[in-house]
Amino acid sequence: MGIKRIGVLTSGGDAPGMNAAIRGVVRLASARKIEVSGIFRGFSGLINEEIKVLSHRSVSNIINKGGTILKTSRCPEFMTKEGQKRAVEILQRNSIEGVVVIGGDGSYRGAHVLSREWNIPCVGVPGTIDNDLNGTDRTIGSDTAVETALDAIDKIKDTVNSMERIFVVEVMGRNCGYIAMKTALAGGAEQVLIPEVRFDISELCHEITDGYIRGKASWIIIVAEGAVKGPELAQRINELTDLETRFVVLGHVQRGGTPTAEDRILGGRLGAAAVDLLARGETDKAVGVICDKIHVVDLETATAPYQWDPKDDLSLVKILT
Ligand code: ADP
Ligand code: F6P
Repeated sequence: MGIKRIGVLTSGGDAPGMNAAIRGVVRLASARKIEVSGIFRGFSGLINEEIKVLSHRSVSNIINKGGTILKTSRCPEFMTKEGQKRAVEILQRNSIEGVVVIGGDGSYRGAHVLSREWNIPCVGVPGTIDNDLNGTDRTIGSDTAVETALDAIDKIKDTVNSMERIFVVEVMGRNCGYIAMKTALAGGAEQVLIPEVRFDISELCHEITDGYIRGKASWIIIVAEGAVKGPELAQRINELTDLETRFVVLGHVQRGGTPTAEDRILGGRLGAAAVDLLARGETDKAVGVICDKIHVVDLETATAPYQWDPKDDLSLVKILT
């Protein structure tokens, strides 16, 4: 007998394209005659039994919407054995035989615990702007976040050039420099600082001063939030170069807005792929896309330290300046 009912939840930081992923889950399940229970507010809604059946129609007109119709949260209670036990009881009481967890690395760890320690089949769908999960070229939301950050950089550039100043612009990404790197490359920034690569502030200031002597007075330095404290960096640059320096945090605007075509398509494909895996009896897996093909890895592999080599892109930012 095949699986009859699954649950779907979104967890951790919201990401544009999560709704497209929910739609992918519900529509593929509907085609396979599997009932879908929407679990609201992530693991916290699971523990509190905030559950509602999602019909084929209930996901109409959400593909173009940012955020998540299921809402999301961070749930410290689910980190405890008691919280997990309660979650399992609720799943059993609602006859939910497997769960699609759409979220980032923390949410994946939660799904891994449910699969491994409590024997609840779980499949992870990568929903985070940070692009910090293994087993996929991109996570749902990262493309939209880069576009949003880029739009802001283009605007900042106007004032940077007009007033000939230095701007330090902080972008999100937690411990990953992906958003920073892509935004720097696309925005033509002069420098990018990311957590994965060590940098030397006095060397950077020398470059700025040398440039100034040659007539270059405008700089945009993109800083990943996990790399350095932005306000302190801006102050230090100001002190060492004696050039007027401003600091801007782009913040949560990067999490909002209309998802790009890429994120909608990725969401739909991966939501559907997750249901397909559960229907085939798989558990403790994460779905992704590598070279445009669906790719499956263990949840543990997906959450291991993120493997990417930013060195070539970093050199390119400097060469193209
Ligand atoms: P994201 O999924 O965006 O990385 P978080 O790191 O905040 O977001 O994780 C989301 C939620 O996943 C946490 O609030 C918690 O409920 C659950 N979670 C994270 N790590 C674990 C863990 N080691 N064990 C069980 N649940 C976890
Ligand atoms: O993981 C997504 C993310 O937006 C990170 O880029 C950022 O560090 C964090 O979440 C912010 O979390 P909060 O919304 O709780 O401030």
